[in-house]
Amino acid sequence: MSLADAAAKMTLKENGRVVYVCEVQGHDVEGNGTEKMPFRSALRAFESVSGNGEIILRKSLEEGYQPLGKTALKKTQKLYETNQKKAQKAAERAAQDAANAEKNAAAEAARLEAAQKVVLEEDKSLPEAQKIKIRDATEHRGKRIKVSGWVHRHRVQGKDIAFIVLRDGTGFLQCVLTGKQCHTYDAITLTIESTVAIYGVLQVVPEGKTAPGGHELQADYWEVLGKAPGGDEAFGNRLNTESSPDILLDQRHLVIRGETASSVLKMRSLVLKAFRDYFDSRNVVEVTPPLMVQTQVEGGSTLFDFQYYGETAYLTQSSQLYLETCLASLGDVYCMAESFRAEKSHTRRHLSEYTHCEAELSFINFEDLLNFIEDMIVSVMERVTNDPLGSQILKELNPDFKAPKKPFRRMNYADAIKWLNEHGIKKDVLDEQGNKIGEADYEFGEDIPEAPERRMTDTIGEPILLCRFPTEIKSFYMKRCPENRQLTESVDVLMPNVGEIVGGSMRITNFEELAEGYKREGIDPTPYYWYTDQRKYGTCEHGGFGLGIERFLAWLLNRYTVREVCLYPRFMGRCQP
Ligand code: 4AD
Repeated sequence: MSLADAAAKMTLKENGRVVYVCEVQGHDVEGNGTEKMPFRSALRAFESVSGNGEIILRKSLEEGYQPLGKTALKKTQKLYETNQKKAQKAAERAAQDAANAEKNAAAEAARLEAAQKVVLEEDKSLPEAQKIKIRDATEHRGKRIKVSGWVHRHRVQGKDIAFIVLRDGTGFLQCVLTGKQCHTYDAITLTIESTVAIYGVLQVVPEGKTAPGGHELQADYWEVLGKAPGGDEAFGNRLNTESSPDILLDQRHLVIRGETASSVLKMRSLVLKAFRDYFDSRNVVEVTPPLMVQTQVEGGSTLFDFQYYGETAYLTQSSQLYLETCLASLGDVYCMAESFRAEKSHTRRHLSEYTHCEAELSFINFEDLLNFIEDMIVSVMERVTNDPLGSQILKELNPDFKAPKKPFRRMNYADAIKWLNEHGIKKDVLDEQGNKIGEADYEFGEDIPEAPERRMTDTIGEPILLCRFPTEIKSFYMKRCPENRQLTESVDVLMPNVGEIVGGSMRITNFEELAEGYKREGIDPTPYYWYTDQRKYGTCEHGGFGLGIERFLAWLLNRYTVREVCLYPRFMGRCQP
């Protein structure tokens, strides 16, 4: 029966079921077309009887049920017909797709089976391949080499050419597989991040083409060493550029394989080396102090404690005090060690564990200390920018970077307070519940928090040596200024975009003054006997500083947070991987 006929019959009660439609109370899913449970739409009613029945409909409760009008019936019928056609087409398409999929699967299975029979063998008549790292490739152009690494990128071009960008941690190398090399089972199923060894001759890329290093390896033999999974477990499914920061941190062990993260880590290594080279050039001796300690350096509130054979011990906040004990033994000293701070807030520049570059210099005055810090920063930058890899990474990650020049702007703490007030940078006034109830000027004697410090540094836009902080807001060991004993001979180095990267000072040389410092900070001097002894057995004018390597790197590479420049960052709420 045609649909037109069906529609005609719909008006005849005797030929079909009566289907109720209520546009007010009906429901297309839960209804069943009876008076008690009407449908909502005429189309649904039409579908329920496949066009063979009478539809009666009410538009409002007052109106009551009426047979569906002729025009409405025609419209419904047309819609029904279109839907039927669509459904039929979809079913046909699905059947076709299934058939195609089956055909493709069979073809793929046959292709894989055939591929398994293709076996590559190294041609022993060729010169022996020399095993090299990608970093050394240029000097091996024209020679037969073997390079092992991870498949960073993979592109198949037709049946007989495939390009692999190989990564071995020292660089990237384009490799070209041709002919039979592209037909093996491993070639057909190759996945990103698999490890492979590729043999062949390194050739300069043809004119007009580009590749990392300007050359490519024309493979004559290759093999898979460790296959990475495909499908759901494929590397690309573990993370991508849109992954949330938390996922990226969970997957940090895979993230560091990426180009940016590995460049940052390479720069980290270069920076550590540049600091060591600088200290070496100034005859400052490296020491490796213990990190498990029973004394504090920078206040008790950020100490991590742990049980040490039944006693309380701490993870060090700074190796400064131990460095000071080395002066009489080794002369000027430095260390590159981890420091730990139980920071209870999430900020862009605070970590629970960071690499602390600390130095201690004997028989110097405050001016010498400031000059040393300034010279060190400028010199480390020179070493980094003169290094070919360093300057390349800097160009990639922070193209606008301008190395700072000596002398840095010097500013006293008191002038920084004035600067904030003159520039309308205020502090929040809070009520007892911590709600903001107003604003006020900063006052002398207050710590300058991170936000206003950053605003000042960013506005000034150049490195600042911020000097002479009040005694009350500084640590017990800091020497007072001879010209104003309210102040200390202390310095913070502030850098645009990060803020403080260095904290340093001259140290108290006088035994009694040190005792007073312990008292002021409520520190029991007993466990500090070894530190106090330095003032007893031949005291000397000395000073030193600590520089946070992560903050230095965040500044250098223009990273948003110090977390990005750590191998595996530690901060509140994260201690893995
Ligand atoms: O200013 P701080 O606390 O100074 C000291 O620890 C001194 N005892 C150092 C010394 O004179 N030998 O810390 C020094 C530097 C800071 O300027 C900052 O760069 C870094 O250490 N730093 C941190 N970096 C990351 N996360 C944290 N939680 C940090 N706390 C300090």
